[in-house]
Amino acid sequence: RPAEGQAWVAPSLLSADFTALKTDIDNMTAAGADLLHLDVMDGHFVPNISFGPFICKFVRGLSDLPLDAHLMISHADQYLEAFAKAGVDGLTIHVEAEAEVGPTLRRIVELGMKPGISLNPGTPLADILPWLSAVDLVLVMSVQPGFGGQKFNPVALEKIAELKSRRDSEGQDFLINVDGGINDVTGPECRQAGADILVSGSWLFGASDRSERITLLRG
Ligand code: DX5
Ligand code: ZN
Repeated sequence: RPAEGQAWVAPSLLSADFTALKTDIDNMTAAGADLLHLDVMDGHFVPNISFGPFICKFVRGLSDLPLDAHLMISHADQYLEAFAKAGVDGLTIHVEAEAEVGPTLRRIVELGMKPGISLNPGTPLADILPWLSAVDLVLVMSVQPGFGGQKFNPVALEKIAELKSRRDSEGQDFLINVDGGINDVTGPECRQAGADILVSGSWLFGASDRSERITLLRG
């Protein structure tokens, strides 16, 4: 976990230049990125298609940073082996998707990866409470998943604060990760609310000086 009051920074490769992926990853790594966030979309759970294990495997070959895949797919359960083989370190599934949550999280652990659970802005925190002791990470969505470059929804701040107080009172250990619309204003707000990891796509990749922005997000 990052030091109290600080956060780890996870660039979302959705905003990377895929014709120069190696350069972009090297640049983000030199700028201080702590891990890489890989947005996997199936055109079914979300109305957009991005990439899958095939591309994750190339990213693995380009980076030694931890790789966190955010699975915006209806049937994560059918692809767990493929992501493990691709060398992904953590898999986060959506509570709203069709795969059965409990067995899917257990299988992720069996395959040697870290399990995470995510929820959309409109999904109440109550829906993920049964899984808090079974995950390494909770990914709070601050935009409706599917696209980069959307506006931050402040409902995430309440969820982050409540997750932090539950974790403290119940002695749990998950990381609190927030994803969508993170910038110089919303990033520090999330960190102060208790987020451990800030995902940023368009704001971070759009910068000429990425290390300055990463330093600002880290706190
Ligand atoms: C949205 C993705 C996010 C997105 C973040 O579906 O899960 O990871 O790429 O991008 P920005 O920071 O541009 O909102
Ligand atoms: Zn994401």
